[in-house]
Amino acid sequence: MNFVVVGVQWGDEGKGKLIDFLSDKVDITVRYQGGNNAGHTVVVNEEEYIFHLLPSAILHQQKVCVIGNGVVIDPRALIQEIRDLKKRRISVKTNQLKISGNAHVVMPYHRILDGLRESKRYNKIGTTGRGIGPCYADKINRCGIRMIDLMNARVFQSKLEDNLREKNEIFKKVFRHPEYSFEDIYHEYLRFGKILKPYVCDTALYLNDMIDQKKTVLFEGAQGTFLDIDFGTYPFVTSSNSTVGGVCPGSGVAPTKIDKAIAVVKAYTTRVGEGPFPTEFPAKFMDTFRLKGKEFGATTGRARRCGWFDSVLVRYALMINGVSELAIMKLDVLDGMKKIKICTSYKYRGRVVKDFPSDFDVLRRAKPVYEEMDGWDAPSKGVKTFHDLPLKAKMYVRRLEDLLKVRIGYISTGSKRDETIVLPEA
Ligand code: IMO
Ligand code: MG
Repeated sequence: MNFVVVGVQWGDEGKGKLIDFLSDKVDITVRYQGGNNAGHTVVVNEEEYIFHLLPSAILHQQKVCVIGNGVVIDPRALIQEIRDLKKRRISVKTNQLKISGNAHVVMPYHRILDGLRESKRYNKIGTTGRGIGPCYADKINRCGIRMIDLMNARVFQSKLEDNLREKNEIFKKVFRHPEYSFEDIYHEYLRFGKILKPYVCDTALYLNDMIDQKKTVLFEGAQGTFLDIDFGTYPFVTSSNSTVGGVCPGSGVAPTKIDKAIAVVKAYTTRVGEGPFPTEFPAKFMDTFRLKGKEFGATTGRARRCGWFDSVLVRYALMINGVSELAIMKLDVLDGMKKIKICTSYKYRGRVVKDFPSDFDVLRRAKPVYEEMDGWDAPSKGVKTFHDLPLKAKMYVRRLEDLLKVRIGYISTGSKRDETIVLPEA
């Protein structure tokens, strides 16, 4: 059984926790898109780990983690992540981590360009500033540098020279920013290449070989459906396909070998960065809720915008990803609320809109239509079986299941591994 775990909101749904939980049952976990814009939090025995490039299964040392060709890798950040784990006495062995030689490298000029472009934009995206957009743009422009290039001094030299010729003109003429010196980047990145070389291989070959040997593979999505470059709230999106479709080009595994998709949602909605968000809370309520849910970005520390559950949005995402099972995370954050709202449709210019409008302007002006439910007075925090949930919490979950027409397989009631409810298939 090979399956994908994807976020079906705006990222930060709790994919890290679910993947750590599920990876116990699989042999290999694969990241297939995004870069260190992701921040996946895993809590084990009161200890918190945040992964940006390493797959969230890395704490299971008997399992293999793969960074596929669709990921963009900032080698400095990756090496730092591996070193940080080592300081916590977890060493990432070369048989435990495999990195695609075809993955593109985030270069220092990508990070700077990310910030400079943002500063000039009238409609700011609110990127993570990690150079993700400019790196993917170079990939598509066919001038990107790949991991394998860092391992060949001659090839790297010529590609870097080509890039700097163009980038330095842009820095100078468009942004009046100091130019980059070839020497600074060249030697440092060759060194990064040397450090990471033992992990680098043809991961497409490896994965298909393992699948032929009946090993099970979990594909770990980063970001979420509405940050997808094609299906998200463009232009307020990231630069990769964070939906299930990204798996094939991002890993080299064919769609015929993928058995199912599990979607991850929060019991409410959050978004970091700019862009439309119909169910966003009013400012007054936002601050208290954010503190309760600890809704601050795992990557940038930015305050996340919070709002009610939007079933219009999620229903569309379930369709795009062909989801057969849903995980609801952070249900406990709703503990103690008197009333809880679910958005069931939008109103736009007097019309009822039932399907997610891809027209950004409609989404921006759409007013959510809510269904209100009673909150629950007993805590759901730490509850381990569906049976033990407070009645009203069960009703909330069942209502979401009804509205979304998908089976709920997991409910998270806290950040720890065992604060998870598994619902057996009927
Ligand atoms: P995980 O994997 C939430 C958002 C940024 C910004 C937009 C574009 O933890 O769910 P980028 O740096 O990618 O060009 O920024 O996408 N964003 C995320 N929001 N969770 C993430 O990852 C995100 N990765 C990018 O805030 O709005
Ligand atoms: Mg995150």
